[in-house]
Amino acid sequence: MKKIIIAIDGFSSCGKSTMAKDLAREIGYIYIDSGAMYRAVTLHCLEQGLFEGDALDTERLRADLPGLDISFRLNPETGRPQTCLNGRLVENDIRTMTVSSKVSPVAALDFVREAMVRLQQQMGRQKGIVMDGRDIGTTVFPQAELKIFVTASPEIRARRRFDELQAKGEPGSYEEILHNVEERDRIDMTRAVSPLRKAADAIELDNSHMTIPEQKQWLLEQFRRVAAQE
Ligand code: DC
Repeated sequence: MKKIIIAIDGFSSCGKSTMAKDLAREIGYIYIDSGAMYRAVTLHCLEQGLFEGDALDTERLRADLPGLDISFRLNPETGRPQTCLNGRLVENDIRTMTVSSKVSPVAALDFVREAMVRLQQQMGRQKGIVMDGRDIGTTVFPQAELKIFVTASPEIRARRRFDELQAKGEPGSYEEILHNVEERDRIDMTRAVSPLRKAADAIELDNSHMTIPEQKQWLLEQFRRVAAQE
């Protein structure tokens, strides 16, 4: 069977990556979390003192960017990819509230997006890839054979992220997380470069009231339907 490209876009914290990861493992495809790449750039900015309060030194970031090596390494125990920045495993460091609250302005910079999109397109050259993000079906792989656009209400998404952080023992109140979710939606949808929007040929999935196994089953059916036509 010919390999295809699967693009999964949607709002933050709506379970895209769980669905995408599970599908990739099930069908033997590579999974790439494009949001993790923007988070890794943000972590670099924080660690190197490129932020002064909310102000980012974009010129320093522009100079640093070509030297940043962002890659993924499979966790041998879970079989899931983990994000590396300059060879260092940063999977946990990029998921903190500090990174979450600074990532949207970094992801809105045109030169950051150009560099990340180029890298993402290289990763998809051989097809057989599931990539999730905000602009995968619109900008990164407009030719993707299967495009999904996932939505869920902001309250449900904030609750899911709150539960996730709690389980990891990370700090963060529900109100703070809800505010962060809404603020990121606003920035992601209104930015000038590659704003979050559904591709005309994407299939929409509102998973507010679906369980993870239900979503998984639904996605697998979409894959089988499209792959059978290839
Ligand atoms: O999916 P996530 O929450 O880990 O994404 C982190 C941030 O990166 C989020 O604010 C949106 C941005 N992002 C983006 O602009 N384009 C992508 N393809 C993926 C993520």
